[in-house]
Amino acid sequence: MPVTAVVGAQWGDEGKGRMVDYLAQDADLVIRFQGGDNAGHTVVNAAGKFALHLIPSGIFNPKTVCIIGTGAVVNPATLLEEMRALEAANVSLDNLWLSNRAHVVLPYHRLVDGLQEAARSGARIGTTGRGIGPTYSDKAARFGIRLGDLKRRDYLRQRIGLHLEQKNRTLALFNAPPLDLDEVMETCLGYAEALGDRIVDTLPLVQPAVRAGKRLLLEGQLGVMRDLDWGTYPYVTSSNPIVGAASAGAGIPPTAIDRVVGVVKAYSTAVGAGPFPCELDDADGERLRLVGAEYGATTGRPRRCGWYDAVAVGHAAWLNGFTSLAVTKLDVLDGMQKLRICTGYRLGDRVIDYVPDTPDMEEVTPVYETWPGWDAPTTEARTWDDLPKPARAYLHRISELAGVPIEFVSVGAERDQLLTLELPA
Ligand code: GDP
Ligand code: IMO
Ligand code: MG
Repeated sequence: MPVTAVVGAQWGDEGKGRMVDYLAQDADLVIRFQGGDNAGHTVVNAAGKFALHLIPSGIFNPKTVCIIGTGAVVNPATLLEEMRALEAANVSLDNLWLSNRAHVVLPYHRLVDGLQEAARSGARIGTTGRGIGPTYSDKAARFGIRLGDLKRRDYLRQRIGLHLEQKNRTLALFNAPPLDLDEVMETCLGYAEALGDRIVDTLPLVQPAVRAGKRLLLEGQLGVMRDLDWGTYPYVTSSNPIVGAASAGAGIPPTAIDRVVGVVKAYSTAVGAGPFPCELDDADGERLRLVGAEYGATTGRPRRCGWYDAVAVGHAAWLNGFTSLAVTKLDVLDGMQKLRICTGYRLGDRVIDYVPDTPDMEEVTPVYETWPGWDAPTTEARTWDDLPKPARAYLHRISELAGVPIEFVSVGAERDQLLTLELPA
């Protein structure tokens, strides 16, 4: 390890949660570095099946310190629900800490997220409705409330009071009722009481761990194609899922991150609107959705499904400098007669091998190679040689096109349904 970032290389839902759960068996510390409860990281292990939204997927290792980092945005109400669900399954939360610098998602933010989406009518982003955009907007505009503020009653009242009038003007634009200072204060003080002791300055936990060479995992949310800067803007989230943001969001120097694992699904899925060139509206797409159980862990929306897009993953590989790939859900392809890999985009009379800006991305059509499928089930495979030959050829091509070696292949949702491959020296 010592500092490993685990990030999404497609449109999200690649299986980051299952990879972090696996890798956290050997981790001293796991930090979620961006995003909020828009994430749905599904973990299946001996403790049960969980859809984590904010809590780092390392929480199942009682020895691992888990931090919701400065770059994340935290809705205390949903966090408390998530904590209760884990406690009910006897998962210890003794090691869970929240950065005092992380911003708070307030009920107001969720409300505005919904109102803004409704107002976009024909051009909806298809957000998760969790208030992510409005919270990061307030953060950038310097109106935000941070978790640490919740513990300072007078300061909090002053901060909320300063901007309440502006917020109420925004609400009035949408014909929504105004906020009341006392009510917002009461909500915040309730959060402070429930979470107070867990809200800390995280550097005293992180700095000594990095200096002592402890094993750290940085857990990303979503994937590069929804990155605020490098995704298909405006059909993106409001933070940066790429590893460049892990340093800022976790409070670690970029030079300390020495391993970046890119998580890629063996095919493509996306939730929400925006260009998705390899989307399938046919029986193959339906099959991927059905066999892959492709329904959003946070919203329950059916995920859009398509063939593997090597152009999008190439974009991710460049932006993240992956040191290895974890290819997930290979088993979902078992029994398919043929597979396709998109190696380029046709744009007008040209074929390009990069992700263009959104208006062009909306026009591209995929250029495919066809690969043979395999019949034998892969779910029991635990070594490279256990995999059917066409599956190995398919994986080899994925690795070749990304220019990154594959370190893990997952063949089922359970923690140990995974192969670990030796990386080239
Ligand atoms: P994340 O957001 O990147 O953590 O991914 P999600 O958890 O939203 O989506 C991945 C889904 O695939 C979850 O339901 C996982 O339980 C499931 N999953 C992960 N790896 C595998 C695998 O190798 N095979 C199968 N069949 N399911 C998997
Ligand atoms: P994980 O971490 C898939 C999508 C939404 C929408 C866009 C913006 O589980 O991979 P937002 O609510 O962030 O303002 O929505 O991003 N989206 C996700 N899609 N997985 C997620 O998280 C997502 N989080 C947000 O559908 O298109
Ligand atoms: Mg998910």
